[in-house]
This record gives sequence, structure tokens and C-alpha cells, in this order.
Amino acid sequence: MNKITQVIIWFIILPGLFSCKTKTSVNNSKKEMAFIMGQFENTLSIATDPTKIPRTLQKDGALKTVGIYDWTSGFFAGNLWYLYHLTGEERLKTEAAKWTEALDTIQYYSGNHDVGFMINCSYGNGLKYGNKLEYQHVLINAAKSLCKRYNVNAKSIKSWNYRKAWDGKTEWFFPVIIDNMMNLELLFEASTLSKDDSYKKIAIQHAETTMKNHYRNDFSCYHVVDYDTITGNVLDKATCQGFTDESSWARGQAWGLYGFVVCYRYTKDKKFLGFAENIANYIIHNKNMPEDLVPYWDYNVKDAGLKPEWNYNPANYPEIPRDASAAAVTCSALYELAGYSENKGEYLKAADRILQSLSSPAYQADGVKNKYFILNHSVGSIPHGAEIDVPLNYADYYFLEALVRSERFKRQ
Ligand code: GLY
Repeated sequence: MNKITQVIIWFIILPGLFSCKTKTSVNNSKKEMAFIMGQFENTLSIATDPTKIPRTLQKDGALKTVGIYDWTSGFFAGNLWYLYHLTGEERLKTEAAKWTEALDTIQYYSGNHDVGFMINCSYGNGLKYGNKLEYQHVLINAAKSLCKRYNVNAKSIKSWNYRKAWDGKTEWFFPVIIDNMMNLELLFEASTLSKDDSYKKIAIQHAETTMKNHYRNDFSCYHVVDYDTITGNVLDKATCQGFTDESSWARGQAWGLYGFVVCYRYTKDKKFLGFAENIANYIIHNKNMPEDLVPYWDYNVKDAGLKPEWNYNPANYPEIPRDASAAAVTCSALYELAGYSENKGEYLKAADRILQSLSSPAYQADGVKNKYFILNHSVGSIPHGAEIDVPLNYADYYFLEALVRSERFKRQ
């Protein structure tokens, strides 16, 4: 082969090599979309009642559904809105609207903080991707319901109602969990739609209180903080779904990251951006983060010296479960953060890596044992012995959202 032929070959091959390297990270190829659509076809062929919402699999592989008051009730509709957005298929819009509108009464629900998840993921996406303008008032009503849980002294929205900690003695009267950062998007949206700033003010106040009390110096966070509603003092910092009170429950870190990125989206206040970057750095550079960037269910579960408060037997987990849902939430949040941060390159690279991992056979369903969801290997709550190493509708939701968000970035 002479020199000129060699140069020509390199000009043809080199760009291909580089584009291969970057393109593998964005995985909405025809094959991937066909697989995802196949899984949803399977689900829609047996799930026809929109008040029985697909959440996970039972041990025998059958679909497990939940009612409309379950905290995960909005994700299936949200998944259908994302699929409609990705494919443009009108029948998916019809399905998405059907599963959304079954949640109608949730807009008046103030029994816990999850109304944000339930309504924003369903109606919020219907407004955004389905142009359903009539959904606006539902979002505003839901924001009103959520704000009923706000306490001016605690400067926070109450997550759960009264309950006891794992020790069986400590009582929580005003527990706020990090997950609650995810409900703020509903409040910001409601302010934009209604031009009434009161929802946004509550969201900002809640976020500031969370920054102050949920976070440690290394930007990891507690799961639960309990408040005195008269003095506003912190009464307890603890976990409910993590390994120990002082550990970092993986999905909690992801909820926090996502929530602070959303706060920056709506306020453009740099303190929220800087805070989100610090959380992202904690996650990406965590010493216990596996190479594929899909975390164990808790970042500290491998750390000697930490002892769980509840009855945890490591022998039951020879392979420490990963949490694909935490990875999917993190991935989606990192894509948005990459759009704001001067550190775009690093966050985009990490998000691409997670998306690539979740799109690989190691995490993606085989279509046989798991016929109804996209991802395997998520964890609901190990302390509760619930939903360990299973598919979850919210893992799929944030995975689809990450797919959509990944599209916005042009890669050379
Ligand atoms: N928001 C409940 C959970 O993350 O498990």
C-alpha cells in the first residue's frame, strides 16, 4: 500500500472511529426503539384499566400494578408521553391521555408530598409533549394541594405524615425526605402557568431549607430530616431506605441532584447551579461508584464500620444490588446540568456513560423474563425488603427522559 492510499484510508476511517466512540453513548437507535416499543406493546396488551398502573414485576414475572394514589402512579402515563414524543405515533398520544386522565382526582390530594411526582410526570408531560392546554388547571390545583403541606416555621413541605424511625421509638411529626426536591418542579410550573409567584416562593424556600439541613460537607445527603413545626428546629436526621442514618442512599442522592438542577432551571440563581454541580461531583467521583456508573443501592454499603440499624444480613446479598433507577435519575439530571454548566464536557461524558450502561444487555430487559419494562436491576427499598433487583416504572421513566435529553447535544 503506497503512502497516498494510506492517507486516503485514514481520512475515511478516522472520522468513523471518532463518531463511533461518541455515538455509542446515544442509544435511540432503531433497534433500541423497536425493543422499547415491543415492551410497551406487551404491557398495553394486558394493562387496559388505567386505574391499575404497571409498577413492577411479581416474582413469577407477572405484571404488578398499583392504584392511582400510589406515589408511582404518574410514571406510566409519563412513559407513554415520552414514547409519543420519540415516535410521533398518534395512538400513543391517545393512550398517554387515557392513563393521565385516570389520575384526575390526585390534583386535590394532599395526603403526602408525592402529588408532584404523580401529576407533573403525567399531566405535566401531557401539557409539554401533547399540547394539552386543558391540563394547565390540573397542575395549578395540584400545586395548591402540595402547598397545604408547607409549614412557615419549618420552611419546608412535609413529606410524610407521622411515623416512627427504624429504632421504633423516635417519632417523626414533620418528616421531610430528600425525594421531596422532585416535587418542586410542579410548583415552579404552576407559578409560570398561573403567574402567581406564591408556589415558586415555597419551592425556593423548601430548596434552601433542604440545602441547609439535608446536606453534609461532602454534598452527600440524609434521607429524612424531621422538624419542630413551632421552632423550626431540626429534631432528627436519619434514613428510611438507606443503609444507615449516616450513609448515602443512592436514589436519594439522585433525587437531590435532579431537584437542584430544576431549581436552577426556573430561578437562574447560581447558588442552585453550584450546589447541583457539587452533588454531581460527589456522585461521579464517589470512591464506591462502579466503573459503569450504575451505583450500588447505597454509596456506603461497602464501607466497613457502618452498621445498619435494621435487620440487614450481608449474606443475603453476595452481590450487592445495583440501583438502575438511581442511575437513570442521575443520568437525566446530568444531561440537563450539562446544558447549564461550564463543566459541560464532564457531565455530558458521565451522562453518556450511564446511558450506554443502561442500554446494554447488563441492565436492559431480555423481553422474555421481563416482558413489560425497559430496565432490570432497580431497588425499591432494601430495609423494607421490597422490590429488590427488579424493574420499576420510574427507572424506565427517567431512562426515557434521558434518551430524549441526550438528543439535544450535538456530538462531533
Ligand atoms: N420516593 C420514593 C422512593 O424513591 O423510593
